[in-house]
Amino acid sequence: MSYALQGQGGARGGGGQGAPQSTPEQRAARRDSIAAVRAATVQEVMAQIAGRENQPASDVFRNVQAWKTIPAGEFLKNMDEVVGRGLGRGCNDCHVANDWASDTLPRKQTARTMMGIVSDINTTLLPRLGPGPGGRPRAIQCITCHRGGMASRNAIIP
Ligand code: HEC
Ligand code: HEC
Repeated sequence: MSYALQGQGGARGGGGQGAPQSTPEQRAARRDSIAAVRAATVQEVMAQIAGRENQPASDVFRNVQAWKTIPAGEFLKNMDEVVGRGLGRGCNDCHVANDWASDTLPRKQTARTMMGIVSDINTTLLPRLGPGPGGRPRAIQCITCHRGGMASRNAIIP
């Protein structure tokens, strides 16, 4: 049945171009080092906005269109823990150096669209199911689909 779907898998594991596939251990090590750089970068930017962490992100940063009302400090933490970790990517996969506000990279624009999709699903569509386990609101996040991996279609940890 899903002949076309099967054809989309492509090379897994980031090897590409005939390179040998990396092992789960190698991918885990790579993820850890990317995570360490992300955390350090968040600390740097956090220091730059010191004292304004609780103001809305759109007041503190220059080009926030999706996550406007999130407090700036939480916005930055989300860049690391929700976006970066969810996709297994580093800050500079979406941002050009020294210009966080720039929308030059297409991936950043896709990510912004995705933020809107996630918001629509969480606020409009999922509530149709009623409350989740323990009465908590149901919610998906980037990691729900992206599974912490860089291959957009079918990544799965590790
Ligand atoms: C998958 C892509 C992606 C990754 C990875 C990512 N960002 Fe972002 N970032 C975005 C998007 C999209 C926006 C705009 C959000 C909006 O419009 O609400 C943004 C906005 C920002 C802004 C606000 C810039 C401004 O002045 O408007 C900062 C600061 C920022 N990111 C820092 C980071 C840091 C630090 C990391 C790594 C920990 C990171 N980002 C990782 C996509 C990404
Ligand atoms: C409901 C599932 C789903 C959720 C949730 C989701 N995505 Fe995606 N995302 C996809 C699909 C499907 C694609 C397209 C894959 C393809 O290229 O065919 C995609 C593609 C992308 C891409 C471009 C491919 C890449 O890796 O560069 C980015 C960036 C991205 N998503 C960011 C995000 C971010 C950030 C979030 C959380 C705010 C998010 N996505 C949440 C399903 C999802």
